Amino acid sequence: MKTIVAKVDLRQASSAEVIQTAAKILQEGGLVAFPTETVYGLGGNGLDSAACEKIYLAKGRPSDNPLILHISEIEELDRIVAEVSLQARALMDAFWPGPLTMIFKKKDIVPAKATGGLDTVAIRMPKHPVALRLIEGSGCLIAAPSANTSGKPSPTEASHVALDMDGRIPMILDGGPVGIGIESTIVDLSEETPMILRPGYITQEMLQEVLGEKVCMDPGIIASDSTRKPKAPGMKYKHYAPKADLVLVEGETDKVVARINELVREKQQLGQKVGVIATDETLLRYEADHVVSIGAREDEDAIARHLYKILREFDDWNVDAIYSESFATPRIGQAIMNRLLKAAGHQVIPV
Ligand code: TXA
Ligand code: MG
Repeated sequence: MKTIVAKVDLRQASSAEVIQTAAKILQEGGLVAFPTETVYGLGGNGLDSAACEKIYLAKGRPSDNPLILHISEIEELDRIVAEVSLQARALMDAFWPGPLTMIFKKKDIVPAKATGGLDTVAIRMPKHPVALRLIEGSGCLIAAPSANTSGKPSPTEASHVALDMDGRIPMILDGGPVGIGIESTIVDLSEETPMILRPGYITQEMLQEVLGEKVCMDPGIIASDSTRKPKAPGMKYKHYAPKADLVLVEGETDKVVARINELVREKQQLGQKVGVIATDETLLRYEADHVVSIGAREDEDAIARHLYKILREFDDWNVDAIYSESFATPRIGQAIMNRLLKAAGHQVIPV
């Protein structure tokens, strides 16, 4: 299959035609990758079992890992979910459109293929104008996981999607680099205490403030071992992993820099190529084969935005080992570290 990569910039009139072509592909049961504010999504008609099946095939995704349905208007909820609680309404008012996904009891119209056989469905209203325009234009509720091959870091640019999906899907909409760079926060309101199944840009504190009650974190995603099963099926899979072995070094900056340089030398003496993930502040202090800055330490938005791109770059450089500083930043540090720890298989050296 030939994959068309089409630039979309909604300020230009020509984009209407591009969106129309993409919408038609969706209506006919095909797949289109498109930008959202978090990461690129791989979209298909979420109410069409065959289209959902194609998504799993294109990604090589295990079939028990459910998809997120993307909507452009709150009214669409009534068609697909059995009940919308007051809590859910409050969160929608506060954060939709935006990087928050909520879990609801599904109606029969949502095929089991979309939900991995669960009787619940994950729903989000994205904020990216191209995503919204595509949902409206197609009239579909778009099922869209991240547009990467299963196990790879989520794509934050159209070129990442092309690397993973070229020849597998008919069309990729290129809306430039995404704004946030890590996937949406997932919250489950079906239990007595609201629970975060995947941390993201919308933090625990932000949810608590709107709900006026405690929100807990799924114990299954905090555990560094596999003794507890995460509630979101996708969170149990090894994810985001670069090809090289990634280890985090955590502690006071001077000590971290010294220890990483020491570890780099040890590996290099064994004939290995080594990479380091640094910050703007420490970039020049490392001696390794590839040193990259993830951004300024104070700029946590930049750190989130650059994370997946950097993990992908290390694959191109063919390094054998990567050492990274730790980024437990105040606001979205929990989400950043959740992804980074997974990429590192929870290998952390405290100094
Ligand atoms: O930011 C995002 O959410 C991106 C963009 C494209 O919207 N999408 C995304 O989808 O990250 P995906 O498929 O890569 O991740 C969906 C996660 C998986 O961990 C899945 O297990 C979980 O959502 N999930 C989906 N439906 C669920 C359900 N009914 N109950 C629990 N977890 C669910
Ligand atoms: Mg994903």
